[in-house]
Amino acid sequence: MRTSALFFASVALAARPFDNEPDTGIEAVLGGFAANKTLPPLRSIQGLPDFDWAARQYLPASNYTYYRNGAAGEWSYRNNLEVFQRFRLRPRVLVDITGVESTFSTTLLGYNFSAPFFISPCARGGNAHPDAEWNLVKGAGQGNILYMPSLYSSKPWQSIYPQRNSTGQVLFQQVYLDDPSINATRTLFQNIEAAGAKAIVLTVDSPGDGVRHRAARYGAGSANTGLSYFTWEYYQELQALTKLPLIPKGIQTVEDARLAVENGAKAIFLSNHGGRQLDTSPSSLEVALEIYQEAPEIFKQTEVYADGGVRYGIDVLKLLSLGVRAVGVGRPFMYANAYGVDGVKKVIDILKYELLNDAANLGVGDLKKVGPEFVNWKQTNQWFP
Ligand SMILES: Cc1cc2nc3c(=O)[nH]c(=O)nc-3n(C[C@H](O)[C@H](O)[C@H](O)COP(=O)(O)O)c2cc1C
Ligand SMILES: *[C@@H]1O[C@H](CO)[C@@H](O)[C@H](O)[C@H]1NC(C)=O
Ligand SMILES: *[C@@H]1O[C@H](CO)[C@@H](O)[C@H](O)[C@H]1NC(C)=O
Ligand SMILES: *[C@@H]1O[C@H](CO)[C@@H](O)[C@H](O)[C@H]1NC(C)=O
Ligand SMILES: *[C@@H]1O[C@H](CO)[C@@H](O)[C@H](O)[C@H]1NC(C)=O
Repeated sequence: MRTSALFFASVALAARPFDNEPDTGIEAVLGGFAANKTLPPLRSIQGLPDFDWAARQYLPASNYTYYRNGAAGEWSYRNNLEVFQRFRLRPRVLVDITGVESTFSTTLLGYNFSAPFFISPCARGGNAHPDAEWNLVKGAGQGNILYMPSLYSSKPWQSIYPQRNSTGQVLFQQVYLDDPSINATRTLFQNIEAAGAKAIVLTVDSPGDGVRHRAARYGAGSANTGLSYFTWEYYQELQALTKLPLIPKGIQTVEDARLAVENGAKAIFLSNHGGRQLDTSPSSLEVALEIYQEAPEIFKQTEVYADGGVRYGIDVLKLLSLGVRAVGVGRPFMYANAYGVDGVKKVIDILKYELLNDAANLGVGDLKKVGPEFVNWKQTNQWFP
């Protein structure tokens, strides 16, 4: 009996269709724009998944595919999106939630922002709009959130900084080390400091190239290739090159979170690169849960950021509830950039609106106080009996 139940479960799983955007009527209402390959008006966009749909209809297939692709069978890509709905909430009622919006603002490494979410570093902003990353930095400035430009931007990365709304707008610069020598890296870090970045985000989840079947099919391969040999010892040498905090991005286990703390990281970034590097790597929600269960002190010892598959306000709340300090969003901003700055700003506005109402309905009056008791973490994964 046991075997046959498992057998039928696995058959059901294999047959289960994956909805890149859950069916909330996008196709039914906006299908006409797909037929003529135009962008629906921005006011008809209701949620972050709508931007994915709109970009897929509108952009050239290879442009869209570079953003959309994940590694290999895209199991991590899909898991990043689906993992959030496997955990049910434990909403509390008759809680005074007036003023919850005044608790949105937060500090990241001491800098003030209007909300605990930010734009994750994504290469090739020019795939959706000729102004590329300039729209992202302007939208982030208007919404007063953090933006982390990618080193592999379509516009030269240095040109993003003068597009800030003031020198007070804070950016954290993501890097890959194309030339990993200390001398070349020293020069790069000096240039990043001179440009005005307030932290350096070192991507550590990509020592190999991403195996990307979908992208290869469309000739839209990855922006970073080649093997790297970085170690924690090298991290120390790199940190000694700059006064800016060096944030390791791509932490995927509690062991590495501990090592990052031991190596003095002022912030760490849980990520599986949007499921683009190592297929079946865990979502950052699962990593945050592992840290919460095995070494919850880490959330106090360093600032913990996390990204991957965040599409709704409630996804942000689930990550915050475990102790994550700020949540990154990648693809939705890239897709929204097809609309330019207004699209970027709309992502921020939608997330703030959803965060406000989800917090209210969850019975959370203060975002700083949303704790793990608001989620049923013990509930087993419904897809696997
Ligand atoms: C098109 C694209 C390009 C990316 N480029 C980079 C990059 O240059 N450096 C990096 O550290 N991460 C990169 N990432 C990963 C993102 O920083 C982020 O971890 C991921 O997009 C989060 O998942 P989400 O897209 O589901 O929100 C990229 C992701 C995408 C979708
Ligand atoms: C494309 O289709 C939409 C929805 O049917 C319509 O409103 C719009 O005017 C059309 N645009 C063009 C250029 O045909
Ligand atoms: C951040 O905001 C607080 C409270 O509004 C203020 O006291 C502080 O000076 C601000 N810090 C920066 C770096 O702007
Ligand atoms: C598609 O991507 C290329 C390369 O980034 C860019 O030159 C082109 O403008 C993009 N197309 C659209 C419609 O944004
Ligand atoms: C690195 O820079 C130092 C100091 O500027 C110099 O002495 C050394 O020769 C450089 N090494 C290489 C391999 O370029």
